[in-house]
Amino acid sequence: MADMAILQLDKVSYEYRNKHQTVKAVNEFSYEFNQGLFYAITGKSGSGKTTLLSLMVGLDVPTEGVIKYEGKNLKDMNMDKYRREYVSLIYQDFNLFPLLTALENVMYPLKLKGQKTSEGKLLAMDKLKMVGLDESYYKRYPSMLSGGEQQRVAIARALVTGSSILLADEPTGNLDTENGNNIVSILKDLAHNDKFCVIVVTHDLEIASVADKTLSLRDGKLIL
Ligand SMILES: Nc1ncnc2c1ncn2[C@@H]1O[C@H](COP(=O)(O)OP(=O)(O)OP(=O)(O)O)[C@@H](O)[C@H]1O
Ligand SMILES: [Mg+2]
Repeated sequence: MADMAILQLDKVSYEYRNKHQTVKAVNEFSYEFNQGLFYAITGKSGSGKTTLLSLMVGLDVPTEGVIKYEGKNLKDMNMDKYRREYVSLIYQDFNLFPLLTALENVMYPLKLKGQKTSEGKLLAMDKLKMVGLDESYYKRYPSMLSGGEQQRVAIARALVTGSSILLADEPTGNLDTENGNNIVSILKDLAHNDKFCVIVVTHDLEIASVADKTLSLRDGKLIL
């Protein structure tokens, strides 16, 4: 089943409910994501982009509809394992551990999995190389790195888990144009050369223009 979508969403809806009101943030969203492609999800502020992302990474559960990973309903999967090993989320503000070096940051998910330090180190070094950071960066703390370099460390940390889906919420939001373009080209290469399914939420139309597929959200609905 080589051509099965890696992530399928079927009429997925999500409502935020509180005492006073109900907000339908995602409204019957259906789409199939495939490996090897770079997707951009765009839409105005409040259109449901981040909510959709949190459903895809399993941080929230759809109010209605079904999400399937490689054909399996997320509801029937171990969600901790799904979040740890099948999907990786990259944040706008990098979210690195300030007291860990670049190399230690990348090794951290492996440590959680109980991997031997020597093996973890080799794997982490390999991923840092993939994002263009050589050994001169290993021992630097996040505060000693530029924003673009920090985001590259964050991407390397996302890669080390072995997940095949990379999701990012405004990954270039805190970067200047040059660093932003750099991050976009790294993410694009990961999709095209290493067959990741890369899904980037952005209001940056330039990113959207280089994506293989661009999805637009309006009021939680996919507009085609
Ligand atoms: N915790 C929450 N409780 C109630 N409503 C929420 C909550 N989080 C988001 N919403 C609402 O859900 C809708 C979608 O929000 P979401 O954060 O997904 O939008 P977004 O497209 O990511 O926006 P932005 O571009 O500003 O990040 C908005 O109307 C928002 O007000
Ligand atoms: Mg958002």
